[in-house]
Amino acid sequence: MSNVTIKSVKEVNGIRVACQMAADTLLKVGEMLKAGITTDDIDRFVHEDTIQRGAWPAPLNYHGFPKSVCTSINEVVCHGIPGSQVLKDGDIINVDVTTIFEGFYGDTSATFYIGKPSAEARKVTEVSRKSLDLAIAEVREGARLGDIGAAIQEYAEGQGCSVVRAFVGHGIGRQFHEPPQVHHYGRRGSGMRLKAGMVFTIEPMINVGAFEVEVLADKWTAVTVDGSLSAQFEHTVVVTKSGCEVLTKRTRQLVNSEPAWSAVVAPA
Ligand code: MF3
Ligand code: CO
Ligand code: CO
Repeated sequence: MSNVTIKSVKEVNGIRVACQMAADTLLKVGEMLKAGITTDDIDRFVHEDTIQRGAWPAPLNYHGFPKSVCTSINEVVCHGIPGSQVLKDGDIINVDVTTIFEGFYGDTSATFYIGKPSAEARKVTEVSRKSLDLAIAEVREGARLGDIGAAIQEYAEGQGCSVVRAFVGHGIGRQFHEPPQVHHYGRRGSGMRLKAGMVFTIEPMINVGAFEVEVLADKWTAVTVDGSLSAQFEHTVVVTKSGCEVLTKRTRQLVNSEPAWSAVVAPA
């Protein structure tokens, strides 16, 4: 982990542009979601929207991933492959957008509600959303990586949910995945010290049931072993002396995710 790079102001500026493109594409995805569309429709939209910006969708052909975005429904934890599956009322879906612009990567995801969610779906989604916010609040120069994981684990487990261990947040910049690995569980005061200019994602995957996951025969789709619902939110952040800047910060609220359910109906 000693090879974590400190980004220059110019590099952060480049990453921020890619991050803002990804954030804007994700906002537009939220606006198109409804029962009856397929995950291939989402893929086509993300591909076209990204290309129109003069950018490129990072997932496409990444280690053989066949599509331009990840779409992960219900018990799918992450890396769902878009296809002919039709969204139906009550589903939750994470859409994970990663944009490459002028050599820099920006990575962000959110979980959306299709129609009216069950109490369980709302719970896991809102716990995931808040766990990312709590994690971001830990980030500043001098804090430790373990503080991030601990904040997520303490809150999510305290709410009766579990934290996926098998996938981590990651450094990002001119590469999709760089050091450090950002675990979403851990102990306060442990792990590497954060320094201003480090850029990484935080992307907690939270399950209603147990944390174990398995990858399907397609080699990508990760699902909960017990079939329980899973939700995820992701931001890319840069560490500063006093805190952090959320490079994928949205310029308006998500449609079909917040605030209709989240603000009005807090998780129990
Ligand atoms: N966007 C995912 C992440 O947050 C990685 C997707 S890799 C892919 O790290 F190949 F599945 F697209
Ligand atoms: Co990521
Ligand atoms: Co991502």
